[in-house]
Amino acid sequence: MSTATPTTDTRSGLATASVADTAAVVGGAIAPILAQGVIARRPPVVRLAGLLGTDDRSVRLLQQIQERYGTGPVRLPVPGRSVALVLGADDVHRVLDGTPEPFAAATWEKRGALGQFQPHGVLVSHGAARDERRRFTESVLDTGSPLHAQAGSITRVVRDESLHLRERSEQAGVLDWDAFVTAWWRIVRRIVLGDTARSDHRLTDLLTRMRRRGNLSVLAPKRDDLRERWRRGVRGYLDDPQPGSLAEMVTGAEQAGDAPEDQIGHWLFAFDPGGAVTLRALALLATDPQLRGRARAETAGRDLDGPQELPLLRSTVLESARLWPTTPLLLRETTEPTEWAGGELPSHTALLVPAWFLHRDASTRDDADRADPDQWLDGHAREDWMLTPFSGGPGVCPGRELVLFVASSVLATLLEDHHHVLLPPERFRADAPLPRGLNPYALRFGVSRSTV
Ligand code: HEM
Repeated sequence: MSTATPTTDTRSGLATASVADTAAVVGGAIAPILAQGVIARRPPVVRLAGLLGTDDRSVRLLQQIQERYGTGPVRLPVPGRSVALVLGADDVHRVLDGTPEPFAAATWEKRGALGQFQPHGVLVSHGAARDERRRFTESVLDTGSPLHAQAGSITRVVRDESLHLRERSEQAGVLDWDAFVTAWWRIVRRIVLGDTARSDHRLTDLLTRMRRRGNLSVLAPKRDDLRERWRRGVRGYLDDPQPGSLAEMVTGAEQAGDAPEDQIGHWLFAFDPGGAVTLRALALLATDPQLRGRARAETAGRDLDGPQELPLLRSTVLESARLWPTTPLLLRETTEPTEWAGGELPSHTALLVPAWFLHRDASTRDDADRADPDQWLDGHAREDWMLTPFSGGPGVCPGRELVLFVASSVLATLLEDHHHVLLPPERFRADAPLPRGLNPYALRFGVSRSTV
């Protein structure tokens, strides 16, 4: 990183990083995030990033930026685009609370990437269309309810697939990513599209193909034929909705949104990182006997065949998403000139909230490198605007409660009467600083029957 003297933008009065520091941030922190795949992860690159320790280095890089330029917003002189880093809690709060006006969620970058498979998705919509799609999304996802309206059917599906997974893992003595993700996608397809979609991996593979094109954003030509195949595939489930599925709720007359296939595309896409978050949460539980003991106490005597709110397991999943955020950068775009303590930012400025850094900045947080599920249990993490694994404000993830419910229910069944030991290559100890990168595709657990 350069040692250039901090500069101030003479027009806006806000601190502006030097060209060398900007190149360091773009090359050392943002490029590795993009290379790992923002819309569909690229497992070999995720592995390489782990070997190269890019997560570690990028946190140190941003610490230096903060020391040099303050908490900002710090302008990055990127050619052709006004860009600023948002590094202070009050500013993060303001930006997320001010979504979608004057801080639009539908940034140019997201429209390019998500336009490949969900051009009418709520995240890339603005104005009245966004309001309507958000309303529709919230009603189907039952946003804010710890137990979804379809909690009974969801629990049946989760229990069924997790018991199968547990049985197979016990027989093999090992639970790895491949086995886990197969079960996870069965669960997701059954919850979203219905039981008959359990083995329809062709549909989710098609979505993955479109998501890979999304990684390339506007550089990849749009493939209308793929979108049409996707639309037809989803429509088949909507035309014959399975009881208890989200598809059934979508087809409820007063719910019908204008582009349900696009919203469903987002839900399936968004459940994908949920799998990584769940398996990393299992790694936290496997390596921390005290946390595991508390989780067992929470589930003891509960009927896991029925829906359960499991606050400690949910908080562990939230910690997993905090420690290893699956949306490492939150992006907003100003829709008008905005005033800040240091000066003005023009309209169409891209605002970057670097969650991966803010969650793990040891210079400001004593929980930077250790798990602290209690901060979610007692609620004070929800007031902390430096912690945004599910974003915040009006654009907060509307699937937050649903995915926490699903993930905590999966974990409850896996833990029930079974013991997990984290196996190499990804090893860490609960009483040592936790790694800043944790490759979910390399997670492996030894599994045995046990009650301790
Ligand atoms: C652990 C899993 C998940 C995490 C960490 C997560 C995180 C997030 C984050 C950070 C955002 C904000 C993105 C932005 O502002 O650019 C978001 C938005 C969104 N999420 Fe999730 N999400 C998860 C799972 C889900 C699931 C399972 C669903 C649906 C079933 C879902 C539906 C959505 C939707 C529709 C939006 C867009 C909201 C809007 O623009 O108003 N998410 N999520």
